[in-house]
Amino acid sequence: MSSPFSLSARALSLKPSSTVAVTSRALELQKAGVDVISMSVGEPDFDTPQHVKAAAIHAIESGKTKYTAVSGIPELREAISAKFRRENGLDHAPDAVTVTSGGKQALFNAFFALLNPGDEVLIPAPYWVSYPEMVALTGAFPVPVPTHAANGFQLDPQALEARVSPMTRMIVLNSPGNPTGAVFPPEVLKAVAEVALRHNLMIVTDEMYEHLVYDAQQVSIGTFAPEHTLTVNGASKAYAMTGWRIGYAGGPKAVIAAMNALQSQSTSNASSVSQYAALAAFQQHEETTQFIGMALKAYRQRRDRIVEGLNALGLKTPTPQGAFYVMADTTRIHPDELEAARIILDDARVAVVPGTDFAAPGQVRLSYATSMDNIEQVLRRLDELLQQRAHNESRTR
Ligand SMILES: Cc1ncc(COP(=O)(O)O)c(C=O)c1O
Repeated sequence: MSSPFSLSARALSLKPSSTVAVTSRALELQKAGVDVISMSVGEPDFDTPQHVKAAAIHAIESGKTKYTAVSGIPELREAISAKFRRENGLDHAPDAVTVTSGGKQALFNAFFALLNPGDEVLIPAPYWVSYPEMVALTGAFPVPVPTHAANGFQLDPQALEARVSPMTRMIVLNSPGNPTGAVFPPEVLKAVAEVALRHNLMIVTDEMYEHLVYDAQQVSIGTFAPEHTLTVNGASKAYAMTGWRIGYAGGPKAVIAAMNALQSQSTSNASSVSQYAALAAFQQHEETTQFIGMALKAYRQRRDRIVEGLNALGLKTPTPQGAFYVMADTTRIHPDELEAARIILDDARVAVVPGTDFAAPGQVRLSYATSMDNIEQVLRRLDELLQQRAHNESRTR
């Protein structure tokens, strides 16, 4: 009998993730009792700060459990507006701010509010996997702008401008970046803003990792081109709130209004309880700053150790300036990163993400949002793997 439904062209157009094979193999091994260390998760290993949890409990107990305004509770939009001014030098009034169910929904709404089929969107590569997928869902075309490990994945504004065509509508930026950890310096951001102004392009900047910056200066590109920029951010990474699903965006009022209209016909509003929790993260600034400082110190120590350890093993790894990921060159293990990730999983019992979906051939991504003990253990396991392979090679020679 034929199927009673046919899947939409949109649903069918979504690319199956090449990381799925590695993830399911990791789960299989774990189920079989193998102790696999996961370096693949993209979320803080810290618990949500206590003052945020307390605010959520209070919200539940005081009945703040109903629908809210589509764009979010007014107190939260005011707090975000103040945060944009205080921390980013951006001037977005509360009605130029919207609250979404995670940063992901802010990006999704933004792309659907701004793109038409056939438009082109410039995305520095390696990129976070969801940008090209979301862009393609709108019918627009993602156009990668390559960056390179040799200079820490820095973006060359001239290379970006060289890819502008009559169909280009948007530039997507992510600094600090996932998976590269690259932080684009103010002069690069200024030059990119000038490209946007020259060609009348919109910039969507994802500043999700803005607080996780080590030796660099984090600047919001919106300060250089306010009318052309939508700034997306969220509570997930900065306040260890991935499960609460709070994202937000600030930008030109017409764009925010279109995003709200889209949201009103999809998810209505972000969880009311989570909105009150996020409000505490913004309003109880001192506790939040303390939490961020503690997390940043731990991430920096872990970054230093994992970069040093991987390079010492001959797996070339640039020192990232932000976020909590490293990109390691695994061509010593296997020229194909999918195969390298499989070998690392099967023979070293470490789960990593192959760079395939990030447009990062020959590299794998490791998240260091995990304990120092795990990092030491991972380095030992990789060392054993490399020694074993060298030994096998010398025997077959
Ligand atoms: C660059 C980047 N943007 C956005 C997100 C999504 O964040 P959220 O959990 O708030 O949807 C992630 C999560 O991994 C990310 O790495």
